[in-house]
Order: sequence, then structure tokens, then C-alpha cells
Amino acid sequence: MKYRYLGKAGLNISALSLGSWINFGSKVDAKDAINLIKLAYDNGVNFFDNAEVYKDGLSETIMGNAIQKLGLDRDTYCVSSKVFWGGGLPTQRGLSAKHIRDACHNSLSRLQVDYLDLFFCHRPDYNTPIEETVWAMNVLIQQGKILYWGTSEWPVQQIVRAIEFANKNNLIAPTMEQPKYNMLHRTRLEHDYLDLFKYYRYGTTIWSPLACGLLTGKYNNNIPKNSRLTMPEYIGMKQEFLDSEEGQANIKKIKELVHIADSIECSLTQLSIAWCLCNPNVSTVILGASNVEQLQENLMAVNCMEKINSAVIENIELILNNKPKQELNF
Ligand SMILES: NC(=O)c1ccc[n+]([C@@H]2O[C@H](COP(=O)([O-])OP(=O)(O)OC[C@H]3O[C@@H](n4cnc5c(N)ncnc54)[C@H](OP(=O)(O)O)[C@@H]3O)[C@@H](O)[C@H]2O)c1
Repeated sequence: MKYRYLGKAGLNISALSLGSWINFGSKVDAKDAINLIKLAYDNGVNFFDNAEVYKDGLSETIMGNAIQKLGLDRDTYCVSSKVFWGGGLPTQRGLSAKHIRDACHNSLSRLQVDYLDLFFCHRPDYNTPIEETVWAMNVLIQQGKILYWGTSEWPVQQIVRAIEFANKNNLIAPTMEQPKYNMLHRTRLEHDYLDLFKYYRYGTTIWSPLACGLLTGKYNNNIPKNSRLTMPEYIGMKQEFLDSEEGQANIKKIKELVHIADSIECSLTQLSIAWCLCNPNVSTVILGASNVEQLQENLMAVNCMEKINSAVIENIELILNNKPKQELNF
């Protein structure tokens, strides 16, 4: 495993981490969760990602129980949660001081820990003044209930406002963002956030490195049974990724990316994850896996990174930008 600092923070987290979204509490039961967390931890993963909204809290309960069963020492791993969608009632959602406090306490109890290493605002809340959110996070840090707070899928202007308000008032500013980032989804991280990296050394814990499985190549010819895009509750994802014109254009590109992966003797899955790691503004890539075999393959992506030289990067760009095949040099 390789380790990276979370932006300008002193926290050294594993370049690959493990998240629980969709899988924990559906495909991954309590026993599978133990196996996945053990495999990740034994391979050097020290960050496990969660959110209050994942299976309405069940994901955190499963993760908390698994970590307890494995008896991991608290000073050897980091755990996160995210606040925004806590329930159906008005007081159970958003980024008000009340909901931030309640969400944090609920997550601490489900995860069975007495502090969260990372606590994210899962989305911006335009009904709550940013000042209130910054204050609420600052209080949690002062109380020792969280160590670092951050944003997820916030527009850059909102992040800058939060940082500047915190700095001006001697409060603790957000440290990291959790954006979607993969070969097919790049604008925020590679364009919008550049000033955040340059001027604030903001960290990133990126999600969906495989575009929900698309970048494994498993959807290239058909839709495998029990795969994410067959789940009835995520029918919208299938429509976006496979049924749309853009989805089909992406599948075409993915079929070509397979040749690049072959040329450096790694799987497309590993190439896709390692490609994310090649971006120095990525602090950690959060992996999702519905079984141990997938996670085993994905963790090996670290080894694939060294094989991604500038020629490989160039070839990937040509494919992603629909350049003619004869320009490829592998
Ligand atoms: N902040 C946010 O808003 C946000 C949003 C989403 C996710 N996240 C975080 O990011 C984490 C990762 O996101 P993600 O799950 O979307 O990541 P992803 O890597 O894009 O997709 C993971 C899914 O792809 C399939 N897969 C993974 N490895 C595979 C392999 N080797 N072979 C075949 N299929 C494979 C599995 O689905 P199937 O087996 O079911 O097909 C797996 O559940 C989440 O757990 C969560 O912690 C954050």
C-alpha cells in the first residue's frame, strides 16, 4: 500500500480506501463485511468510508460491528461519516447546527467509536447559512468528536466561502472534499477545484473510481446477473450508464481501453483505479466491492500505477477524446 497526506493535513491515509455505499446491508452481510474489512486492513488500507444515509444507518452499524469483531486498534484506522440525509423529518436533514450534532452522535453510536476521523457535509445546504455549518463543525472538533471536516460535491465557490469564513474567525476550516472522479467524470477535480489545491492544499477522497462498475468492462457486452445496474432501486443508473446515447459512447471507449490494459498486463479495473491515483490531487481512492474477489483485484491496482507512463496516459486521452485509432501507439 502507498500512503498520502490528506491535503495539507498531517493525516497519512492509504491511497486506496474502502467504502460501504450500496453494498453493506444488501450484497454484503455482516460476515462478508468482516472479510472485506479484514482483507483491506491486512493490505494496508487504513480508511473506511461511510454516511448516515447509507441503508439508513445500517451500513454504519455493520461496519462498526465488523471493526469491533476484528478488534482493530483505534489508532490504526480512520473512519468517516457524512451528514445531510438523516431521515424524513425536517430536523433530520441538511446542515443545520442541530442536524450536524445529532448526525454525528448517531454515527458515533452506530460505528461504536468515540470520534470520527473525517466528517463530511454530504451536499451543500442552500437553506442553512454556511457560517452556521462551519461553527457546528468547529464545535464538534473542539469537543473531540471529529478530527477533520470536509465537503462532498460542493461547488468550489461554496468551499472557498467556508474556508475564508473559518480563517477569518479563527475557526477550523474544512480540509477535504469527496468528489466523484473517474476516467468518464473529470471536470470538477481536474478543472473546477484547481485553485483549491493550489491555494488551500485541499485534500480529496474520491468516489466511484470504476463508474459504478462500468470501468471494469463487465457491461461491455451484456448486463451480468446480480451486478449493480440490475438492482431495481438503481434503475436510473442503468438508464444513465447504458441506455443513453452518452452511455453507449462510453461503452465504445471502454472496449478500446481494454487494449491499453492488456498492453501493460493489468486488468481494465486495475488500470481505471490506478489512473485515478496518477492524479496528485487525489489523496485516496475509495473502492467499492461487493465481494472479496473484487476487492482482491482492486487492491492490486497500486502495483499497476508504475506501469502507467506518459505514453499510456496519452493513449488513454486519445480514446477518451475520440481520437482515431491509428494515432494510438501501443
Ligand atoms: N460522497 C458521495 O456522494 C459518494 C457517492 C457514492 C459513493 N461514495 C463512496 O465511494 C465508495 C465507492 O463508490 P462506488 O461503490 O460507486 O465505487 P465503484 O468502484 O465505482 O463501483 C463499485 C462497484 O463496482 C463493481 N465492482 C467493483 N470491483 C469490481 C471488480 N473487480 N470486478 C467486477 N465488478 C466490480 C461492484 O458492483 P457489483 O458487483 O454490484 O456490480 C462494486 O460494488 C462508496 O462505497 C462510498 O463510500 C461517496
